[in-house]
Amino acid sequence: MFNIKHLLLATMATLGAATLGTGCVGELEPMPSQPTPDDPPAETNAAKVMFDDNVASIMTAKCGSCHTAGRPAGNTTGFVASIAAQQYDTMVGYVAVVGNFTASTAPVLGKIANGHQSITYSTAELGAITAWLDKEVEVRNPATSTPPTTPPVETASQITKRLYKEWSGCMTKTDFDTANMAQGVGGYQATNNQECDNCHATGAEGFVASRDGAFFFKIMSEHTAYMSQYFIVDLSTFATDHKASIIQNKTSILGVSQRQAPHLEHPTFNADNVSAPVTAFYTLTAAHAANPATCEVPAGRLLD
Ligand code: HEC
Ligand code: HEC
Repeated sequence: MFNIKHLLLATMATLGAATLGTGCVGELEPMPSQPTPDDPPAETNAAKVMFDDNVASIMTAKCGSCHTAGRPAGNTTGFVASIAAQQYDTMVGYVAVVGNFTASTAPVLGKIANGHQSITYSTAELGAITAWLDKEVEVRNPATSTPPTTPPVETASQITKRLYKEWSGCMTKTDFDTANMAQGVGGYQATNNQECDNCHATGAEGFVASRDGAFFFKIMSEHTAYMSQYFIVDLSTFATDHKASIIQNKTSILGVSQRQAPHLEHPTFNADNVSAPVTAFYTLTAAHAANPATCEVPAGRLLD
């Protein structure tokens, strides 16, 4: 599928970095040898190639009947686009399905492993999905300088799982209340006069936001998938220094608040307001994480 972004990217790539920033639109006349709108640029994202070749068909066959984009069945996310060219962007646009892309925590694997609608993946399917996720982690987190010569002690997948576990044990209900999570997020009103908990009180659509603080805290501290909508493991420096950290996940809330694709029908709202209690909760939890002796549950709270 051709779109304006492809054209701009193709044009910029052809012009080369040297001419970028000159800002002269008049120079963007296509040359005869350039790709035409019917001839999209060759795919350079190796992870997307793996998804399109090996994973898309599995998602369509095994998940599409309930998770179809635009018309999901029940309170589920519509991560399976029926138009092939949109499948990749739709899938990776759902934190609820891909998390931070590590195979140890991405719900596309974990949800099924924990038992979901009697679905199982064959060994070949597991291999294809895992290989794709590993490639996503690599492509999305390139080394910014020469990596250490010693191999990492933990893989990106292992460090992600460990950090979520530790963080879950450092989260406390007291901090959650101090940060006003239940009213500030659960009770926050989107522009259609509906509060977040009108749709997300029980964790539907892979996101939990409830005015029942005890319930809200329990769900987000016991399940990686729900926690990672708020706090996500950042692997951006992993290839360079073999380290990772938990950061506030501003992307997931911002994406739906602005109706960024694939969340085109989500109610709009002011993401800054919803994010303020989350920032407060993040700061309080990070203080415990920096001094693990102060964490309430050293073994972590996560059930999955
Ligand atoms: C028969 C219908 C059905 C099929 C097929 C199905 N799901 Fe689901 N899925 C649901 C329902 C209903 C929910 C919401 C309740 C729950 O979480 O189980 C859900 C929830 C989820 C969630 C949590 C986020 C969300 O959308 O609410 C993930 C992740 C998920 N499914 C992944 C998958 C994957 C991956 C497949 C294919 C391998 C799949 N599902 C196939 C019905 C289905
Ligand atoms: C009218 C129902 C409704 C309301 C109200 C609502 N949501 Fe959602 N939300 C959805 C649906 C449907 C989805 C899944 C489809 C989508 O992403 O558009 C979703 C998905 C999400 C996701 C998951 C995105 C991802 O990448 O997995 C987040 C985060 C989210 N909503 C945040 C909020 C917040 C914050 C509020 C309150 C300001 C809110 N929602 C209010 C219906 C709602």
